[in-house]
Amino acid sequence: MNRRAILRWLKEDHEDRLAALWQEADAVRQKTVGDAVHLRGLIEISNGCDRNCAYCGIRAGNRNLTRYRMSEAEILICARQAVAYGYGTVVLQSGEDLGMSREWIAKIIRSIKAATALAVTLSLGERSEADLKAWREAGADRYLLKFETSDRALYDRIHPPVRGRRSDRFALLKKLRELGYEVGSGVMVGIPGQTYASLARDLELFQELDLDMIGVGPFLPHPAAPLGRNPKKFLAPAPRQVPNSEEMTCKVVALARLLCPETNLPSTTALATLSPERGREMGLLRGANVVMPDLTPLEYRALYEIYPGKGGTGESTEAFHRRLWDQIEALGRTVGIGPGRRLNLTLGV
Ligand code: 5AD
Repeated sequence: MNRRAILRWLKEDHEDRLAALWQEADAVRQKTVGDAVHLRGLIEISNGCDRNCAYCGIRAGNRNLTRYRMSEAEILICARQAVAYGYGTVVLQSGEDLGMSREWIAKIIRSIKAATALAVTLSLGERSEADLKAWREAGADRYLLKFETSDRALYDRIHPPVRGRRSDRFALLKKLRELGYEVGSGVMVGIPGQTYASLARDLELFQELDLDMIGVGPFLPHPAAPLGRNPKKFLAPAPRQVPNSEEMTCKVVALARLLCPETNLPSTTALATLSPERGREMGLLRGANVVMPDLTPLEYRALYEIYPGKGGTGESTEAFHRRLWDQIEALGRTVGIGPGRRLNLTLGV
């Protein structure tokens, strides 16, 4: 599928043709990664952040937020909970909190690896090559770093530089690959200023980067962030601006599955937040094969509000787990067992 074909799908609004897209994505998902839905236990280990991303609720400039950093003991309790629920992976996620030292994170990775058989995914933002190398050597398996948009001008507008350096997430993704991580990336759909043409390019890049994991969620306006307070000011002219809708997010999920048949593709919490009654199922029915249940203790989770609603509804981890399990079975799918590595069908592994 070339960029023009991708673009045509992104702009498609004919119901029958879209139904064919959903069906094809689901069929490819079934044929490649199968019916297993892999669950990754998310642990939001710190909401500290040194960055000022224009969309994000935990940006450094948000002074009305109590900051926390979980202790190693608290993180280990969550990891053991992941094991108890039968999950094969934990994802350690945080703001870009440079107060978390290389050694501290390495120690936590080693502790989780010593105590469990979990795969460990990191999602800690842009860190130095030395940090990434040390964490890989400590046993981390995967790293998530969304590039958010391939439109450099838009990227720069919404990611003010820090410490005088220009961020280059594509260079970092390449480094992560060289270090032997499974590499995940992704974008937000409907960022004010995001055009259809740039989103088509984002999708093409998913394929070029041969990503092992692809996270796609709608942009959700947060009142403590400039893009959320005044989205209109940033919008592209109407015919070119991508909407942050459930349908558009599903199109990107479905196209990601067609372009990267073997990738691990979550039905994201952002999609479920935008569309509480059916967002999660829609993702799973239109190409996704992963869900990331939040294991963060409720009192911290409420403070990890990158977008409104991310802090949770107050539903307990246990209740969510049971509801999710039922949802997966109701779709005729199974809960994945083991770490759920990215398949490589061409190598027959
Ligand atoms: N809307 C949607 N997604 C957001 N993220 C952060 N802020 C928002 C928002 N307002 C997503 C970004 C980021 C990840 C941690 O959360 O994709 O990479």
